[in-house]
Amino acid sequence: MPLRDGARVLTDPALRPAARRWRRVTEEAFGIDLVPVTDGPADVVLALASDLPDGGYRIEVRANPAAPGTVHVEAADLAGAHAATQTLRQLAGPAAFRRAPADYRGPSGGTPAPMLPVVRIEDHPRFAWRGVLLDVARHFLPKHDVLRFVDLAAAHRLNVLQLHLTDDQGWRVQIDRYPELTRTGAWRRESTVGTWRTGSRDGRPHGGFYTQDDLREIVAYARDRGITVVPEIDVPGHVEAAVAAYPELGTRKDRSGVRTTWGISQDVLDPSEGSLAFFRHVLDEVLDVFDAPWIGLGGDEVPPTLWRESPQIVERARALGLFGPDGAVDVSRLHGWFVARLAEHVSAAGRRAVVWDEAVSPMLPHDVIVTSWRGYAQGAAALAAGHDVVMAPEQAVYLDHRAGDHPAEPIPVGFLRTIEDVYAFDPLPAELVEAQPAGGRTGRLLGAQAQVWTEHLDSARRVDYATYPRLAAFAEVAWSPRGDREPGSAASKEFLDRLERNHLPRLDAYGVEYRPLAGPHPWQTRPGVQGYPRDLAAETAVGGWAGLGGWREDGGVENLPERSPVDDPAPERDT
Ligand code: ACM
Repeated sequence: MPLRDGARVLTDPALRPAARRWRRVTEEAFGIDLVPVTDGPADVVLALASDLPDGGYRIEVRANPAAPGTVHVEAADLAGAHAATQTLRQLAGPAAFRRAPADYRGPSGGTPAPMLPVVRIEDHPRFAWRGVLLDVARHFLPKHDVLRFVDLAAAHRLNVLQLHLTDDQGWRVQIDRYPELTRTGAWRRESTVGTWRTGSRDGRPHGGFYTQDDLREIVAYARDRGITVVPEIDVPGHVEAAVAAYPELGTRKDRSGVRTTWGISQDVLDPSEGSLAFFRHVLDEVLDVFDAPWIGLGGDEVPPTLWRESPQIVERARALGLFGPDGAVDVSRLHGWFVARLAEHVSAAGRRAVVWDEAVSPMLPHDVIVTSWRGYAQGAAALAAGHDVVMAPEQAVYLDHRAGDHPAEPIPVGFLRTIEDVYAFDPLPAELVEAQPAGGRTGRLLGAQAQVWTEHLDSARRVDYATYPRLAAFAEVAWSPRGDREPGSAASKEFLDRLERNHLPRLDAYGVEYRPLAGPHPWQTRPGVQGYPRDLAAETAVGGWAGLGGWREDGGVENLPERSPVDDPAPERDT
């Protein structure tokens, strides 16, 4: 069915943002006008339907071009309309992903009209939270690249972007009350190149931050595409950049600069009333900039080593009544205590906190959402404890981990996670559900999230390479009904076939520098830069469903027998 120049588009007012987006991309890509109308006959109709599940839609492209309503879309809600219009865009072929027609034939010839196949589609998402995390702290990504990342995520019908805004290596959000956070904390002297184990540095300053107006723009841009931006301010670990700006926040009070290496830092916050007040103020500004119902507080990888060495902090834990099962004061509980206090602050503002799984403790308010990253078991336990959960296990959906075992894989870190592995991701394996005590699972599995950490992704081009096409596999898993998608299964083969035939051409048309299925292009390699591959089978044999990631008293990953000794006992994320 050709979509004619001047086609009339009639939209229910509730669905207008989705219709507007679709009109704009289609007009640009094909050089035609699509005319919004409020009544009368129309070529394209977008209507609300009450018989569809949340986020669901129905599309019918009819064969008779003379009849009004040639393209008929029904959506349960605005989210469904966003998904439907992304499908309409896909139906128009790869050319719909260009910014201008590639086949323009001059003023008299114009361009061929977009063709839509005659189809009937009805669909709805499996999960309400189909997320992707983008780490803009380890490497700053300029605003226009963040907007592009959002646009691409939306094209894959993802609906949450967790923006990891703060970490040891950089603070990326302007906070008016504390200007040093960006004046000092947004910049570092140099960066580690590859794994920190080689000690290799680039000697080149790196940094950047988003103004509050930049972030409001990103939020609005994402909203316009059906994506909620969840800001993450990571506490009480991953704070060296903040401590560099305001040393009184730190346990040592003497940090001199923003961290230049990767890995888990011992320099965590002093969990004092002063630190709490500081971060409440930070969150007040974050709550003002971001309209998401959810606010990330981090809470991952918090070594209590320096807390143990500080008599004042031990005394504080005692005064707060933080004792272990043996009755002795347990400073490590300050971690859960601190996050719980800030979660209450977020709750008081009418939002819900989101934390990484290490922050779960009996002190954590029940409304807090838990993101399970070290493994699956932590998510299952959080569900049993009554928390809503997002599954993001590093064993499956960390897209900074190596996508192949090609000899030229650039900076190969983490587990080998091919596109087929990501496609086989099951957010909550049946074995874990069965292992739960009867009646114990009271939280809701909200969905799943893929992570794009950027220690080794220093540009939008590197982000493209790590993210695509694996994010397409993840997006399909997060959207579609559960199924057998094991590598080699019929579904997996069919997915790869569709990917190659239909989807990679769309990514090509958009201009995504994805990882080719056969391995990197020569210009995508990083000769001489060392990664740190991890062995999933070996770690799973020891750690099981809980994994071995994160900071652990027993050294975790580093204690696996086949590892050679390293100069720092802390495992690092790039590991
Ligand atoms: C994490 O990977 N530390 C959440």
